[in-house]
Amino acid sequence: MKDQTKEGQKNFVLRGNIIYSKTPQELSVTEHGFLVCSGGKVKGVYETLPKEYRTLPLTDYGDAMIIPGLTDLHLHAPQYSYRGTGMDLTLLDWLNTYTFPEEERYQDEAYARLQYARFAEDLKMSPTCRAAIFATIHPQASIILMDLLEKTGLVTFVGKVSMDRNGSKTYTEHSAPEAAASLLSFLSLVRSRNYQRTFPILTPRFTPACSDDLLMSIGQVQKQTGIPVQSHLSENPEEIAWVRELCPNASCYGDTYQRAGLFGGTCRTIMAHGVWCPDNEIEMILENGVYLAHCPQSNTNIASGIAPIRKYLDLGMHVGLGSDVAGGASLSLFRAITDAIGVSKLYWRLIDHDERPLTFAEGFYLATRGGGSFFGDVGAFEEGFAFDALVLSEKSGLYRQEPLINRLEQFVYLPEQQQILAKYVAARRIF
Ligand code: GUN
Ligand code: FE
Repeated sequence: MKDQTKEGQKNFVLRGNIIYSKTPQELSVTEHGFLVCSGGKVKGVYETLPKEYRTLPLTDYGDAMIIPGLTDLHLHAPQYSYRGTGMDLTLLDWLNTYTFPEEERYQDEAYARLQYARFAEDLKMSPTCRAAIFATIHPQASIILMDLLEKTGLVTFVGKVSMDRNGSKTYTEHSAPEAAASLLSFLSLVRSRNYQRTFPILTPRFTPACSDDLLMSIGQVQKQTGIPVQSHLSENPEEIAWVRELCPNASCYGDTYQRAGLFGGTCRTIMAHGVWCPDNEIEMILENGVYLAHCPQSNTNIASGIAPIRKYLDLGMHVGLGSDVAGGASLSLFRAITDAIGVSKLYWRLIDHDERPLTFAEGFYLATRGGGSFFGDVGAFEEGFAFDALVLSEKSGLYRQEPLINRLEQFVYLPEQQQILAKYVAARRIF
């Protein structure tokens, strides 16, 4: 099983049990099939290798499963250090007690380098191939994170956080102009770096932490640069009530971003959570093509609630999954898949009997094609898609071999069995 692909080699073939989502409901399964990478992109999946590809280098992964790379649409790199702790509070107290004091420490570049190096290494070894990441308010530390991520070979968006109100005294930007200047200095540092796979994303933390003036200035930057946006939306009832007080003229929480040009349309946007969106906000999300990052473990840990993902999927909303570390403790998108399915069952049982739970195929779709599409043609093995692939094998051999889809389901549900034999991102072997 010697790997013959070399870094940067763009034409090759992988052999194994190949699974990907055709639609949210339908999986394509090819046992002992051939996955062809041509010109750095997916060419297709074949039961028998077509003649024209028989001279390409081939890596035979035997009985291993090959799936598309997973996309984490929402996580906080500086919170990685305290993941798995601080689960005794809900959002607003959690931010003040645990999050802001930790994020403040990234002002110290040595600390940032140490912690971000751990984060980048773990993300590299995780099932995540692409991610949209929050950093902190510090431009220099955010660049340290981007430098480290660039070296991993993963494709990421990284945002220096903007916040000019309701932080702590020592963890905030002190005015909208100061915050806007800091954002511009971050973007100019990014331009000087010439990254190949690490991109900036505008990151107003959330409306309670951003004055109208700051949102408007970020909106101006968005218009001038076309850089995408990420933020938080309708995560927690107290947060939403606070937004209503702070912005009495907005028609909903989403409108506070929309007024500034930061809510979809020509502005590519990811909003995390959407647990409690009212109908007019859901309509705005759909009309504007906003992506929703569903973060079920975070929503459970800090008791935010359960997002109605069945409804969102049926409405055709762009939905993907987020680990939301450190609201979520686990970096693993496999865990996010099982949590998304799990909370959808509670939603059906406890809240609305008309909203069927997610199936395994739907959970898998969210983690692959659903979130991947924010990055373009990503998350499936169809012609022209980015060549992102994970090669998976159980640590202690197979329990369930047949049908293959049950084998994948079991793999996803059993972290103690999970082994990633190889990871490819944009046709490049990461390990
Ligand atoms: N809302 C504003 N900031 C945050 C954060 O860091 N995590 C989560 N889960 N929600 C937020
Ligand atoms: Fe978050």
